Amino acid sequence: MTKRDAKASGVPLPSESEVNTSPRRQLWMNRNIDDRSRTLLDQDSRHFLHQSVSTPCLSVVTGAEGIWIEDIQGRRYMDFHGNNVHHIGYGHPRLNAAVKDQIDSLPFAPRRFTCEPAVALARKLAAIAPGGLEKVLFTTGGSDAVEVALKIARAATGRFKTLSFWDSFHGAGFGAASVGGEQLFRSGPAGPLLPGSEHVPPFGCYRNPFGYSHSSREPHAPSCGSVCADLVRYALQKEGDIAAVIAEPCRAVPDFAPPGFWVKIREACDEFGALLIFDEIPTGLGKTGRMFACQHEEVVPDILVLGKALGGGLLPIAATVCRAELDVGGNWAFGHYTHEKNPVTARAALTTIEIIEQEGLVENAARMGNYATLRMQAMMDRFPAIGDVRGRGLLMGIELVEDRRTRAPAEQLAENVLYAALERGLNFKVAMGNVLTLTPPLTVTETDLERAFDILEACLETAAG
Ligand SMILES: Cc1ncc(COP(=O)(O)O)c(C=O)c1O
Repeated sequence: MTKRDAKASGVPLPSESEVNTSPRRQLWMNRNIDDRSRTLLDQDSRHFLHQSVSTPCLSVVTGAEGIWIEDIQGRRYMDFHGNNVHHIGYGHPRLNAAVKDQIDSLPFAPRRFTCEPAVALARKLAAIAPGGLEKVLFTTGGSDAVEVALKIARAATGRFKTLSFWDSFHGAGFGAASVGGEQLFRSGPAGPLLPGSEHVPPFGCYRNPFGYSHSSREPHAPSCGSVCADLVRYALQKEGDIAAVIAEPCRAVPDFAPPGFWVKIREACDEFGALLIFDEIPTGLGKTGRMFACQHEEVVPDILVLGKALGGGLLPIAATVCRAELDVGGNWAFGHYTHEKNPVTARAALTTIEIIEQEGLVENAARMGNYATLRMQAMMDRFPAIGDVRGRGLLMGIELVEDRRTRAPAEQLAENVLYAALERGLNFKVAMGNVLTLTPPLTVTETDLERAFDILEACLETAAG
């Protein structure tokens, strides 16, 4: 379904992932799904609540190891999607061993008790977090951790309003969807949302409503970024009582802010008494070639939110990390979650960080990202259907367009490339309907990347016809 069709039929605009009920998907399934897969897929569809970008599913996974997943029919895919949980690769033996040991020694910490792995993880996060962020709360999922951050901001400022970006994503809970900017999660039956959730347009350079835009190959125009930053400042000033600006320092689509953008936002937050919350749930722990994406920007938030890869692609754990002065909710229960100090998820997170550090995975993400950027730029030279390529470390996007001049999103082409790539053994996400979003594990090698980009080129050749 194109964006125009979606609008006409009242179906939300494409955002986080490809539409899971499209005719193109059906065609792929007709060609690739056998009876064994079909039986499980039918049962899945029968028993799970249907929802966009999830159920009904495409296929059945039975194995995950390193950068690979395997389906029930024995087909293997390089997983350049992985929901951004698989930084250290699936099934890392050291992580598996640590978690098994932890299960044997202490499986749970009930309320009133702390435990050694939870404390060790809190200390570790304080040690690696930028700029003196040192107090933590753990949750099971990222959306909850975002909401803890919002509550801390309310308590610390005595204000309740937030400012965030259209098109951003912060999770599916009511609070997280309120500050998020995607129709799919916040409109229609999802509302009413949190009062005071104000939004401004996003900061991306290729698409924005400000009347300037350029691909990542062209130099930034003088106004690029400053218009959006000025608008944030303006909104902070006019509202006068915003508790926090919450944002992904770079969008996982991906989209990157122009140089200096975040410095201006930080200054505006300080000027008008708002906290700055960075949601690094997909980008934290090395994805962009630095331990945290905000370190590219030389801006320290007041609150940092982590999740996804923190659990090593094995267990669900997320964290809210903030300045010590923001420890202001002691009489309340902002993070009263059952698994708040679960020793097993804490051990998984601690071991994951150790693996990332000791195996030099952040450095590898930066190195491999440089190679991938060269490949993406060469592809852009070759294929007119590529309107822009964007990458930082192993967070990469190839934006497909009908026409480079109009930048009309080539949604059908993006779907065709996705399903052709799946047939050749490459799994990735299509974000916003037309961006091939590539997020391999940080363990990926140049040979893996070469193979993946060869597949993409072959698919673009056939699909672009
Ligand atoms: C930027 C961002 N924030 C928040 C979330 C929500 O995390 P979770 O799905 O663990 O609730 C996600 C998940 O995709 C995300 O990408």
